[in-house]
Amino acid sequence: MTNLKVDISKTLNFIEMKEIESLENEAVSNLQKLIDKTGKGNDFLGWVNLPSEITSEIIQDIKNEAEKIRKMAEVYVVVGIGGSYLGSRAVIEALNHNFSNQLNEKDRSHPVVLFAGNNISEDYLSELLEILDKKDYAMTVISKSGTTTEPAIAFRILKNHIEKKYGKAEAVKRIIAVTDKARGALKQLATDEGYKTYDIPDDIGGRFSVLTPVGLLPIAVAGFDIAKLVEGAKNMQKETTENKSIKNNPALLYAITRNILYRKNKTIEILANYQPSLMYLMEWWKQLYGESEGKENKGIIPVSVNFTADLHSMGQYIQEGLRNIFETVISVEQSKKKLTIPVDAGNLDQLNFLSGKRLQEVNKMAELGTMLAHIDGGVPNINISIPILNEESIGELIYFFEIACGISGYILQVNPFDQPGVEAYKKNMFALLGKPGFEKQTEEIKKRL
Ligand code: PA5
Repeated sequence: MTNLKVDISKTLNFIEMKEIESLENEAVSNLQKLIDKTGKGNDFLGWVNLPSEITSEIIQDIKNEAEKIRKMAEVYVVVGIGGSYLGSRAVIEALNHNFSNQLNEKDRSHPVVLFAGNNISEDYLSELLEILDKKDYAMTVISKSGTTTEPAIAFRILKNHIEKKYGKAEAVKRIIAVTDKARGALKQLATDEGYKTYDIPDDIGGRFSVLTPVGLLPIAVAGFDIAKLVEGAKNMQKETTENKSIKNNPALLYAITRNILYRKNKTIEILANYQPSLMYLMEWWKQLYGESEGKENKGIIPVSVNFTADLHSMGQYIQEGLRNIFETVISVEQSKKKLTIPVDAGNLDQLNFLSGKRLQEVNKMAELGTMLAHIDGGVPNINISIPILNEESIGELIYFFEIACGISGYILQVNPFDQPGVEAYKKNMFALLGKPGFEKQTEEIKKRL
């Protein structure tokens, strides 16, 4: 049994239980296609059994490598984009101290993890180099294809920097490459330079790769227990692949409910959290669902909000804007720390009625109050709850969202495991930059500007 729970009762003013039940057989057969590898994109289903295939040896090897990095680096740079970056960032930020990068070095047992290669901003990378000038660092470059422009540019610059800073021989010890086992420019470079490498399995696409070394290595360097993360995912794998009913399979229930809502013109799903540390988990989820489902002119638009902050911005739209949205709220039932509201003699803010109360309780009432207000405003609410932010719950959440995404993509009748649409901007960018071989496109595209 897992600890994650899905509650769809607050959608039932908008849709009927019998509509959900009517899609159950189809969803179960889609789940079976994922398990049997008989659906669309079936050469990219290595993630389905991945948690149960991760051995203690694999985990120990990654932990050993992470320990070496921790000993040599105050800062650890992860170079990658999309699925080669968002998963590790999501988990690290969800589990980290909210102000970990601001802690003094003596209060920190692990390197600060910084990210590069997920943008082409000159200011961003220049300012990262300013930090790296002053800190001991190591880095991992992650790219399945080995040819993605953003991380390739960042790595070219960082490689140059680290080699100048430490000399080539020492730099080699400070670089790890995570890439395809045989193909791509990064694989070639890693072999030529002699970098330690980890392979990304052929049958696992970027956005489903967080439980491969793509995510596990950075998460281990950041000091988190990857064995427990995998254990959580493994428990969810068991629960969602062995149970073939919405009564005991939360992924089926979530996938079906969001599709019924979509069919009723609720085309935007807003994922909400009440814990700032979950912001990057939302980013990871948006990539997972957006890139998997948004194709063939179909798909639910994944949007995210961070409450209560965004109740003072997006909250207005959610309450009273176009009624084509539904909300999925991630509830974290317990906080890790304890803080109560003090009594104030003056009571000018009139908050003494809250004195002695835990912030967690106030946050929970904000969550419940918001849910009811949004339902009253015409926004169905799905709730996904986890007990606490720890490795097991995040592992459960990751696998839950992955398998539900596969089921949901099949309900939409798309191939959830490709991303043909991401090529369009690349072609234009290369044409505009005058890449050799793009001469004709260069001439044509310049006329359009
Ligand atoms: O999910 C995906 O496949 C993509 O988001 C990729 O992860 C992203 O484009 C980065 O690709 P690569 O790892 O090949 O550099």
